[in-house]
Amino acid sequence: MDRKNISCAKANANIAIIKYWGKKDEKLKIPFNNSISFTLDAFYTITKIENSSEDEFYINDTKQDEQEKTKIFNFVKNFRSDFNQKIKISSYNSMPTAAGLSSSSSGFAALTLALNKHFNTNKSIDELSRISRLGSGSSSRSFHTPFCLWKSDDDINSIGTKVDSNLDLSMIIVIVNDKKKEISSNQGMKMCVDSSSIFEKWYTQANIDSLKMISYLKNNDFTNVGKLMESNTNLMHRTTLFCETPFSYLTYKTYKVIDLIKQIRKSGLECYYTMDAGPNVKILCKKEDSYQIYEILSKTYPKDKLILSNCGKGFEVWSE
Ligand code: DP6
Repeated sequence: MDRKNISCAKANANIAIIKYWGKKDEKLKIPFNNSISFTLDAFYTITKIENSSEDEFYINDTKQDEQEKTKIFNFVKNFRSDFNQKIKISSYNSMPTAAGLSSSSSGFAALTLALNKHFNTNKSIDELSRISRLGSGSSSRSFHTPFCLWKSDDDINSIGTKVDSNLDLSMIIVIVNDKKKEISSNQGMKMCVDSSSIFEKWYTQANIDSLKMISYLKNNDFTNVGKLMESNTNLMHRTTLFCETPFSYLTYKTYKVIDLIKQIRKSGLECYYTMDAGPNVKILCKKEDSYQIYEILSKTYPKDKLILSNCGKGFEVWSE
């Protein structure tokens, strides 16, 4: 068999149930507050790296522009010691890129794992989580499944760690818009750090929420996990409304999904909403109820706009 020696990695995206929103240190990506995530089996990135005559970067077979390429190859420096060893990086996202569906979390985690394999750097999981964070903060949480805590320690070694829980949960994603967002999460959180009048309230509360969330997860208390995820989401999105130039990631379509979730809940099926830097809604529920909730949602939304996902099974690394 013709082996081209391609280094490959697959990482799941993660969705925050306590949000990361604001950096104390932009360059090192040190967050103001702790965050906690849930990994998704259906949302992932596969990244392949092979030696090449020039540095190249592709997402879903599309060559990326110079700006994207420069960003990615600055990150490659964390692994490549010989600059003359050129590589081609090809990434494949299972979900729309940069639409608030957490593609950067799986993107940088998969890239980190593939680079570690390609350059034989043999770094530990903690070290990989730390390096991945430098690419995109949320990706530091993609190294542990299903629940991961990323602490806001004033520490350049800030990494994701596993949170214990026996909860068996699923997420249903309602895609109301899969276009690339106008204000990236990086820009949005910076605007909030710089000018949101409730920013201090946000991160103080988020740190309190994270401790409560750890205890609800440990006690397998789904009702309180869901309620706290919603209140944390609501406060994060309120920060954007209190900026000098207010903005919002949420649209009337988002609120229509939220109304439906509230109705489903009233009917006795427990489910809770969260949104990130985009209008799409992620619904957390018990795995045992997930199909029934999916069927109810599909009466209002076409099935190609609904994605039902169980928790991620963990990353994979291999060669081809
Ligand atoms: C709203 O990790 O995409 O999804 O560190 O600037 O790359 P950078 O930001 P990113 O931010 C994610 C923000 C969020 C909440 C979360 O995932 O915790």
